[in-house]
Amino acid sequence: MPEIRSNSELLVMLQPDAHVPLHRQIEISIRDSIRAGRLVRGASLPPSRVLAADLGVSRGVVVEAYQQLTAEGYLTSRAGGYTQVAAGAVLRVPELRPARPTGPAIDLSYGRADVSSFPRAAWLRAIRSALTDAPNEVFGYLTGRGVPQLRAALADYLNRVRGTVAEPEQMVICTGYAQGVSLLMGVLAAAGAKRLALEDPSSNDDALPAARAAGLEVIGVPVDGDGIRVDLLRDSGADAVILTPSHQWPTGSVLSARNRAELIRWATGRGAVIIEDDYDAEYRYDRTPVGALQGLAPGHVVYAGSASKTLAPGLRLGWFVLPGQLTEPMAAAKIAADRGSPALEQVALADFISRGEFDRHLRRMRPVYRRRRDALLAALARHLPGLEPSGVSAGLHLVTWLPPGLDEATVVGAARQAGVALDAVGPYRISNPGPDGLIFGYATVNERAIAEGVARLAQVVAGL
Ligand SMILES: Cc1ncc(COP(=O)(O)O)c(C=O)c1O
Repeated sequence: MPEIRSNSELLVMLQPDAHVPLHRQIEISIRDSIRAGRLVRGASLPPSRVLAADLGVSRGVVVEAYQQLTAEGYLTSRAGGYTQVAAGAVLRVPELRPARPTGPAIDLSYGRADVSSFPRAAWLRAIRSALTDAPNEVFGYLTGRGVPQLRAALADYLNRVRGTVAEPEQMVICTGYAQGVSLLMGVLAAAGAKRLALEDPSSNDDALPAARAAGLEVIGVPVDGDGIRVDLLRDSGADAVILTPSHQWPTGSVLSARNRAELIRWATGRGAVIIEDDYDAEYRYDRTPVGALQGLAPGHVVYAGSASKTLAPGLRLGWFVLPGQLTEPMAAAKIAADRGSPALEQVALADFISRGEFDRHLRRMRPVYRRRRDALLAALARHLPGLEPSGVSAGLHLVTWLPPGLDEATVVGAARQAGVALDAVGPYRISNPGPDGLIFGYATVNERAIAEGVARLAQVVAGL
């Protein structure tokens, strides 16, 4: 018996009150799924009575939609009553095929989530249940903290999985980490902070300009294999520091237990604030999870999380858990900025987490990313054995340091010419020099393309 597609894969969502008849709405959804490639040639559709029951419509409505799509050549009826996507269906609409990518053929840059794996069907259910179940108040003006359901769901999740000590009242939902850290810079400056330390190198494109705009002086503090150099941080006179303790971006080092203790001692003694950017902690491959620093010193650490690596950056959802004295100013800054993030997505994420869909998605993605990471390591070992990978046990990227004589900007430029996009470490350095290095993001590329990308890179390097 052929594999039957479920309604969720067809992405049929009916709007009973719309002016478009129901059979036409079903037709449009299925046609779009075929054109977008979500339904491939030969895929079987649910029997009309099953889809009708699923959608709460009469069977005749579905039959009419199937008949229309069959007449247009998108579907075909098989013996036994099965309806399938016809062989030539996609070729009938060449103008809707995705345009050829104009960028580099193999994109190994930065380390982003694979948005082609975004759990559309489960998210659709979450959005639908948000619309059906959310109380009316959710659609009014919000407090700066964000919708209570999401803060409660996130506090539960973070306390369970990341070892935080988070109360929903201490949380502020933001438009991603980028907005939250930008608001926080203003909050800290208003509270009297003068100097902000950043890990050097670090992902400095959000925090650094925001800190400067808020009037803070920014200094870079070097990182080594144990995370930030706490001795140098201590000497820096910083009032706040932004860290990626679980998997330093980009070097991948993990903040050692000793450094954690020393950092907390420093923050406590100085009254300084530690901002913990926990951007990719959910992806651990061959080491036990590293708990959040916030759990050790909730009075001194601002914990920041984001849906960008776990789900998709386009959701623009981030969350901040703040020490008591910073919560109200941060919520006020959020209100002043935009009156709060869109409610529907917040309620949907709450539903998504509470129903276990978030855990399920992560369970599904971890082995996918791990296989890609393994493919990258194998290709590096085979084609570029002189490059030592680091920070490989977690996240969506790794770094290789270059031997003396190889210049990162030259390698990145030549690789681009050969159709491989990569990032160099240099642009992420703040003030401290260090070895040249390459950042490989492996999450959005399949294993074969990863191997091909590294092979091309090896040819490039051999020609320099
Ligand atoms: C180091 C780091 N922090 C945080 C984030 C998340 O940022 P945002 O939530 O604004 O997308 C990213 C995303 O790529 C990142 O690389």
